[in-house]
This record gives sequence, C-alpha cells and structure tokens, in this order.
Amino acid sequence: MMSFVPSEALNEWNDLVQRIAECDHAYYVLDAPLVADDEYDALMERLKQLESIHPSLQQPTSPTQRVAGGLQTHFESQEHLLGMYSLDNAFSEEQVRAFWSRIHSLVPEAKDAFCAEPKLDGLAINLTYIDGILIRATTRGDGVSGELVTANIRTLRNIPLMLLGKAPQGIIEIRGEVVMPKSAFTALNERQVAEGNKPFANPRNAAAGSLRQLDVSTTASRQLQFFGYAVGYVDKMEQLAPTQFGLLQQLRDWGIQVAKEVVRLEAVEALLNYYQHIQQQRDLLDYDIDGVVYKLDDRSLQQALGMTAKFPRWAIAHKFPAQEVWTKVEAIDIQVGRTGALTPVARLTPVAVGGVMVSNATLHNADEIARKDIRIGDTVVVRRAGDVIPEVVAVVAQMRPEDSQAFKMPDVCPVCDSDVVQEADKSVHRCSGGLYCPAQKQRALEHFVSRKAMDIQGLGGKVIEQLMQSGLVAHADDLYALKDKLLQLQALERMGEKSASNILQAIESSKETTLARFIYALGIPEVGEVTAKSLAKHFGDLAALMQADEASLIEIRDVGEVVAHEIKQFFSQRHNLEVIENLQTLGVHWCPIEKPLEDMSHSAVMNKVVVLTGTLTQMSREDAKAMLENLGARVSGSVSAKTDLVIAGEAAGSKLLKAQALGVEIWDEATFIAHCVVKTKD
Ligand code: IVH
Repeated sequence: MMSFVPSEALNEWNDLVQRIAECDHAYYVLDAPLVADDEYDALMERLKQLESIHPSLQQPTSPTQRVAGGLQTHFESQEHLLGMYSLDNAFSEEQVRAFWSRIHSLVPEAKDAFCAEPKLDGLAINLTYIDGILIRATTRGDGVSGELVTANIRTLRNIPLMLLGKAPQGIIEIRGEVVMPKSAFTALNERQVAEGNKPFANPRNAAAGSLRQLDVSTTASRQLQFFGYAVGYVDKMEQLAPTQFGLLQQLRDWGIQVAKEVVRLEAVEALLNYYQHIQQQRDLLDYDIDGVVYKLDDRSLQQALGMTAKFPRWAIAHKFPAQEVWTKVEAIDIQVGRTGALTPVARLTPVAVGGVMVSNATLHNADEIARKDIRIGDTVVVRRAGDVIPEVVAVVAQMRPEDSQAFKMPDVCPVCDSDVVQEADKSVHRCSGGLYCPAQKQRALEHFVSRKAMDIQGLGGKVIEQLMQSGLVAHADDLYALKDKLLQLQALERMGEKSASNILQAIESSKETTLARFIYALGIPEVGEVTAKSLAKHFGDLAALMQADEASLIEIRDVGEVVAHEIKQFFSQRHNLEVIENLQTLGVHWCPIEKPLEDMSHSAVMNKVVVLTGTLTQMSREDAKAMLENLGARVSGSVSAKTDLVIAGEAAGSKLLKAQALGVEIWDEATFIAHCVVKTKD
C-alpha cells in the first residue's frame, strides 16, 4: 500500500498521469498531438520529480513505469481466461459466398450486416484489464495458454496502461495484433545489418522477435504497435456493444487503437469489393496485412452460431494470394565475399514474384542447402514479401527430376584456386586465399569505398573490376595515387573524361574522413560500423588501436574475444600496415577525436542535472548525452528549477530561453568541449 502522500501531491500526480495518458493517446493512437514536445517533456519531468519525492507514487499506471521491467530471466506461461481461436480461411470468392450462405442457413434471422476488417500480419496478443487497468499481457501460444510478456507489452506507447473514458469494470480480455510498421521495419533492418546482425525476414518476424526480448528496453526501442480487434473473456458482458462494429468503436473510446480500414457492410458483393479495395491499398498501408476478415456483426448471433472444433463459425479470413511462386534451380553458383566466405547462390529460371522478376536467390550456406535439401534441377518455392530479398522457401518434392544433382561445396576457391577451409562451427566455408584472391580483393575495395566507409561515389563494382584488371589498382591506397594516372583512367572502357574527373574528385574529397569511418573501411573481419565507432571513441587515435592488446580490446563495448582476436590479427599483418601507412602518406586524415576525461573526480558536471538543447556540431546529441553520463551528470529532457546546467548548441530555442529566465548556468558547445573532453592528438 501507499505510504503517506499529501493529498495535493496525490491530486497533482493523478492529474499528471491522466494528462500524459491523454497526450500519449493523441500522439500514438490518433496521430494528432495535443501538446508540443517541450510541454510534454515538462509534464513528464514534473511527474518524475513528484515520484522521486514520494516513491510510493511509482505505480504501474504511471507513464514513468513503461520501461521499468528491466531484465527478465524467462517468460512464464499463463492460461487465457478464454481460448484464443484462429480463423478459417477462404481463398476464393466462391468460398466467401459459401460462408455467407452457410450462416444464413444456420441462423435464418441473421441480418446481412458484417464487420469487415484488414487481417493484420503480426502476432496475436491478449491484454487483460481489471477495472480499466492493464494487469497482464500474453502471447497467443497454443491458444489455451501463452507466454507472459506484460513488461514488454507495457513499453508499447499506443497501449493504454489505463483504459480511457468510461472504462469497463471487472475483468476484460482485449485481443489484437502486435505489428511492426513497415517504416520501422526498414529502419530496424538497416541497423541490424550495420551492426553485423542478421536482418529480419519480414515485419512479422521482426515484431515477434522484438516483443520476446528478455531486456524490455530492446522492445521499447522497436516501435511496435498494437491494434485491437476482439475481446476474450469479459466479466460483465452487458457493458459491451451488441455488434462487432460497435465493440470496435468502444475499444477506440477506451484508447485502444483499431485499424482505420474497418467498415460495416451489408451484402456479400460489398464484402468482395472490400477485399479488392483493401488489396489495392495493401502497399500503401504502413503495416503488413495478409487478407481481410469478415465477422458477422450481431454478437448475440455470433453466440448462437458458436464454434467448430477450431474456428468460430461466424467469421472467416479472406486471404490474399501468397507472394510465392514455383520455379526451377538451373545452377548453384558460388560467390566469394570480402572475408572469403563462400555463399551459394541459386540461379533460377526467371519468374515474376509479387510483380518483380527474380532470377537469383541466396542460399546462405551449405547447411541451409542441406537442411532444405535443395538440388540443381529442383523446382522450388520462391517467396518475396514486401521489399525483402527473394528466398527459396522449400523444394517441391514431387517435382524432383531423376537427374537432379546434389550440391557440394568446392574444395578450392572457384576464383583463385586456394584451399577452402571450414569455420570451427562448420557453417561457413572460406577461401583461404586472403588478399591473394581477386574476388576477396575486389569485395574489400568495394567495402572500402562504400557509403558508410570512405564514401567514394562513382566507384561501383564494375569500375573497380576494371581498375583491378587493368592493374591500376590492387589495394585501397592505390586509389589515392590514381590522380597521377589520369590518362590510363580515361582509357578504361566507358569512362569518359567527365566520369574520370568525377571519380578523382570523389577520391580527393574522401581524404578528409573520420577515424570511425576509416577503421570501418579497413574491413577488419567482425568490425562493423558500430564496433568501429566504439573503437574510435575509445582509443581516440589509430596508433593506440593498432598497439592495443587483446585483453584491453575486450574491455570495450561491442568487442568480445572473437572481435578482439580479429583486430589483433589484422594489425599484425605487414601488408595491412603498409596499406595504412600509404593511405596516410597519400593524405587520408581525420580530425583528432575527442576522448572523454577519464578521471571523473575532475568532472565539472559530476552530479549535475544537465539539459542538452539545440544542435551540436562536433558530436551527436546521443554521444554528448553518453559522455555527460559517463562523467557523472544526469541528463534530463527539460529545463526546470532543478536544472544545474544547460548546454546550448546551434539554434537552441525555448529551453535556452527558459534557462535564461531561471538563471541556470549555460554553456555553449565550445565550453562544453573544453570542460568535458580532452584532445588526445593535436
Ligand atoms: S479475429 C475468434 N480479426 O489472424 C476470432 N483476427 O488466422 C479471433 N488476425 O489469431 C481472431 N487480423 O492473430 C481477428 N481483424 C482481425 C485479425 C485477426 C489479424 C489474426 C489473429 C488470429 C489470426 C487467425
């Protein structure tokens, strides 16, 4: 129970919680913000302040407690109060008409009203509210019981921790789908790839993977959304609208997001038109759908119809045709990657999948081929969902020809004839040729010039191949000597004067770079963009990184034993050191990195409440925040009487004004840097 809290504080707390819930609803559900960001931050700040004075106010309904779940060890199983059924499917108009007729013959009194809804392609979740308060959340599981994911679900900002308006009393299970918006999915996969992680196959997998995280802060960062479409067990049925359409409106009134595309329709033709219409809209929606759902609108008739063993009789899913086709594997070729990994690629008889011609699909590795038992000559199912790379889902077993050929990884590299070696975990085969292998060399160069590395535009794979074949370029440093070889460069096939000079210009401007980009560009195995940034930040200059031993490398965030070993290995190769030295001699350089002060006792911001505002030019806001926190500061989002210091970058606005009004100490960026970072190199 709550320890004593003065009634003014309690009232203020109640008002703030209510107000923030309304603001969240307006922002995350209605997409129509009620207040400006600053004002919102101030409400949140005040709430946190109240709760720090009266910790017993840190109640589960408070918006400060959304990500409070921390680290979990496992997911417990929890029975649903009412089973979670799935839906019967229809794949054709005939099947929809048959569904319609069946209902009318079973309940002749059925009026012609149906609720038509998009069928969201995510994962089904059951939210349990008691007296309007979110108590727990479970996955569908086997339909009888699922996994408790309450802490994760609480981080979804479009799910109310307390139902709004005239909330239902007693227990109510609200069911719906958790999805990852396509926009969030694309961004997440970019991050995954940049960080060297595997991208998710589709938004559905991404949503499922993001929700089932033991660390709830990961879920919180994934921008998941919940859409309600049904109720399960309900204590007091009489509180509910008599129709499905009315029920969805009621969910909306309680602050639950419901798909905008939901309509009430009165004829089977109208249902079929709805299907066509939604199918046309499919690509424009920000979430994946795999069909539409028709539900008899009258809920008492739903009751009368009841269930078959598996499905409700009163609803059906009308599915879109799958984005899958059959085609033949004509050959399996091997591609050699930057680090020598051999990737088998299926050459397919070209087919259109979801409107795009597909003729290649990666088969990932030998294990994958063995697991799916893919042979040359096989007919396979190829799937392409959204913008995702086409994948071979499975072999059509009954179509296998007598002369199908099993695939075997070659013993020698198809490009350079070096021995192929197998990784310890056996999943990856590698060419042992290193930079002797022209394929690896070319991939290394492609990586070196790529956008997130040295960012040299105009140097595509074709040009690099020509540069290598003509002997103009063998290693990265040769690129910077090209300016003395203009004539030879222009002599390359399809390279006019103009493109040659553009390329030289791009090479020239790439000389000024950052340490993080340079480290990433080196192409050290296992060192992706994020690790490169950590290394740059930690060491501040290249020499320190090159001399670091494995033990000190392991200390760094994102660096484990394997990575540390690869780094050490890379810098122990003479030819790598030569290339690095030449690059620097030829003019590649970066600004000295600022390194946080290591001795915290000298920190000017120790124990201070600091607010960052405006745009910083030397570092990102996140880096600045991390740096301040390292130095013992508490970084807050809004200026209040408790603020000790405001760091104002360019174009600082209302927060700066408020700080001035309150007489809070203000630093510009230069002052901040002078106090908080030291240069490690002049
Ligand atoms: S109603 C008893 N409505 O589809 C009826 N389900 O194939 C329960 N789904 O498990 C489901 N959109 O995960 C319903 N508008 C919608 C839906 C929907 C997606 C999912 C749900 C369900 C599966 C059944």
